[in-house]
Amino acid sequence: KPGSAPNGSELVFAPIAPVDAAVDEFTVPEGFTWHPVIRWGDPIFEDAPEFDWHAQSAEAQNLQFGYNNDYTEIQEIPGSGGRRAVMFVNHEYTNENIMVPPTMDAAEVVEVGMAAHGLTVVELERKNHNVPYEYVRGAELNRRILLSDTFELTGAAAGSDLVTTVEDPEGRYVLGTLGNCAGGLTPWGTVLSGEENFHSYFRAPGTSAQEKRYGLADKPTARGWENAHDRYDTRNAGYENEANRFGYIVEVDPWDPTSTPKKHTALGRFKHEGANVIIAEDGRVVAYSGDDERFDYLYKFVSTKKYVEGDRAHNMTLLEEGDLYVARFEGNSPSAEIDGSAALPADGAFDGTGQWLPLVLDGASQVPGFSVEEVLVHTRLAADAVGPTKMDRCEDVEPSLHSRRVYVACTNNSNRGVGSNAGPDEVNPRTQNRDGHVIEMDELGDQTTTSFAWNLLLVCGDPATDENTYFAGFPEDQVSPISCPDNLAFDSVGNLWISTDGQPSGIGFNDGLFRVTLDGDARGNVEQFLSVPRDGETCGPIIRDQDRTAFVAVQHPGEDGSWGAHTSYFPDYDGTGPKPSVIQVLPAKPGKGKGRGNGNG
Ligand code: FEO
Ligand code: CA
Ligand code: CA
Ligand code: CA
Repeated sequence: KPGSAPNGSELVFAPIAPVDAAVDEFTVPEGFTWHPVIRWGDPIFEDAPEFDWHAQSAEAQNLQFGYNNDYTEIQEIPGSGGRRAVMFVNHEYTNENIMVPPTMDAAEVVEVGMAAHGLTVVELERKNHNVPYEYVRGAELNRRILLSDTFELTGAAAGSDLVTTVEDPEGRYVLGTLGNCAGGLTPWGTVLSGEENFHSYFRAPGTSAQEKRYGLADKPTARGWENAHDRYDTRNAGYENEANRFGYIVEVDPWDPTSTPKKHTALGRFKHEGANVIIAEDGRVVAYSGDDERFDYLYKFVSTKKYVEGDRAHNMTLLEEGDLYVARFEGNSPSAEIDGSAALPADGAFDGTGQWLPLVLDGASQVPGFSVEEVLVHTRLAADAVGPTKMDRCEDVEPSLHSRRVYVACTNNSNRGVGSNAGPDEVNPRTQNRDGHVIEMDELGDQTTTSFAWNLLLVCGDPATDENTYFAGFPEDQVSPISCPDNLAFDSVGNLWISTDGQPSGIGFNDGLFRVTLDGDARGNVEQFLSVPRDGETCGPIIRDQDRTAFVAVQHPGEDGSWGAHTSYFPDYDGTGPKPSVIQVLPAKPGKGKGRGNGNG
């Protein structure tokens, strides 16, 4: 199949065939090659030790690239001729079973694991556009943000009684960030990162309705940090609120290594997959964010203040104050036509309209019985009270800057329609949704409005084995099979890109990165661009189509293996274990794409 170039994209490729889940290879299209930009354990600073599989320590890890890279953002450094860039990467979690020898002292395993969490900012450099980026050890902007580093709480819940601890009696400053998953670049050049599965780091009484709703329980955590550090056990006096200080959208300024990262309570507290911002027509900014839990919700934040071009200090306060909404979807087909098989209803579309239901408006709570602080800290319970739609795990929610439409990746929901759980509806039309779907939303009015239209762009799966997949009407014998959409990105000409997490256990192929045409006759065409190695997840896609290159973070390769019995040897394939890494894919031979070889990006 020849390469296609939807919307005139410079990134022309012939889709790869899906790769069997047992294969430990990174696969790219014909004519392309791949290169690790940075790997777990790579030294970030001049005084950082080289990585040593047999001598890893917390002291070393503090100065090295962290584990399980997820969200990744690259911004070119102005004036560098496209040769230097600053990269932000978060480190969602750790896989101690394959990271360190089983002989390592248990207390040191805890400290190494903690040091491998957090965030990294690192500079990149390339000689010209035909060669891959390398990271620059010891560069000026390089930074590790660790669990011992200070974050400032902003918004109405900052300083409230719900977030105070014995170490922070004013409730203003939190040490560290946990479970960072996806994220987004703001129009003012900072990055947002979502604190997702924070609950898994805390042991708690687990008795209150709030704790139960967030999955906080009185049981030992997988990593046992609560045995080493009091604050991870909220049964301890003085730490009752520690878990209330996680679950936010974090904002980091990668351009200032001395800046204090923020946690924005105005965007609510839940298992934020990430957040993505668009400037509304009237200058306010709108952030979309999904709560990645089965049957949880989709949210939208609208800032009080307006974006001011060029006033970076002002723009960096925009996410501190605003209105918060949660989504209710209504289908336009009779519910009898939604049978849980994902077969299309009689009108030929899963579609309808919806409402953004206010939780906070003009600084006032809209939820009876909840103060503003309570809405922002116990957001799930406040949302429960207004009747939003229970979704199939919203992952990335990303507005297109081309069309202003908003795309929502619903990754899967094995419990849809099972037992007493909610059954299928038009926006989540499949019982035991194994393969997920992608929603396209169109705000009815400007971006700050409270009503929207929606349709399902994709009902995912392998059309060869599932007759009820849907690719916006595009011929299904021509698409790449795709399952469990997770992260979203756009290229410069408005095509959607999707990375996946969970294909091996569903359609039996390794996870990958896919391009989706949104406009014209080829709308709904899904083309696979790359496939990641065994047990790996494809994260943090960045598309630089004018440079004919793309980046992904390969997360948890070989996570089902063990020390001495690895299932992946990515990316070095030298007989040692796997390393989560940021990978650049680029043409194997220099080409003449726009921006390539001319040194001006
Ligand atoms: Fe960490 Fe929702 O994926
Ligand atoms: Ca994710
Ligand atoms: Ca319909
Ligand atoms: Ca995921």
